[in-house]
Amino acid sequence: MQYFQMPYRMGNGLQGEQAFLENGQRSSMDTEFWHGKWQQNEIGFHQSEINQHLMKHWATLAIPEGATVFVPLCGKSLDLLWLLDKGYRVIGVELSPIAVEDFFNENGIAFEVSEEGPFYVYRHDELTIYMGDFFDLTREQLDDVEVIYDRAALVALPAEMRERYAEHLCKMAPDNEDVLLVTMEYEQAEMSGPPFSVSETEVHDLFANKYDIHSLERFDVLEHMPRFKERGISSLNECIYHMNIKSS
Ligand SMILES: C[S@@+](CC[C@H](N)C(=O)[O-])C[C@H]1O[C@@H](n2cnc3c(N)ncnc32)[C@H](O)[C@@H]1O
Repeated sequence: MQYFQMPYRMGNGLQGEQAFLENGQRSSMDTEFWHGKWQQNEIGFHQSEINQHLMKHWATLAIPEGATVFVPLCGKSLDLLWLLDKGYRVIGVELSPIAVEDFFNENGIAFEVSEEGPFYVYRHDELTIYMGDFFDLTREQLDDVEVIYDRAALVALPAEMRERYAEHLCKMAPDNEDVLLVTMEYEQAEMSGPPFSVSETEVHDLFANKYDIHSLERFDVLEHMPRFKERGISSLNECIYHMNIKSS
């Protein structure tokens, strides 16, 4: 274990959804897309406050203090701090070293880093962030997970990657967890993602094998998100789901 600053890996900063292959397959390009976003500080998805849906709906899940929460594609989300503050152990995974180091530095949190297989693993007390590719996570790394909190992770991915994301998440997480999922719905033809529109039907297609899916709330948020209005969207909903393991 050692304290050190990771040198930022430089990508070629590909712009927009062009960086995804047409059929949504992963390539080095999609990771370069996100590295580029962080390098250019184009992080409109980052919230400077705790996510209101998390604060509002977390209690519905009735997760006991001390449980382990997995936050896929966590960016430098302040929601990690809120969860830690509530007494949970938190595991995140994030591709960008800029995001991970900004998270610790901007919040004045010291960290230790170790290299574990394809990941740099950043730790502070009850927080672990795997810096690397979500698709490289194994079941052992997520063995203790009891809850998954997905905000802007599923919707960050194009359709075919969403299938692979859901498959990997369902396979790697243990079989007893709850999920709080926040998605967006809009007319996909009006804007190219990310964020991508993910319908309730798709949420069922992706997750209904493993989970019972409860739609908790659906908000029209267009007026609060002018950057999307500027991109030509005529309506935009945020949708919140609680998914729990199907009882056999
Ligand atoms: C739309 S942002 C959302 C970040 C965070 N969930 C939030 O609410 O602010 C998506 C994040 O996923 C990261 N990401 C994209 N693909 C990834 C992958 N395959 N593995 C790990 N992180 C990934 C990106 O770098 C980016 O920070």
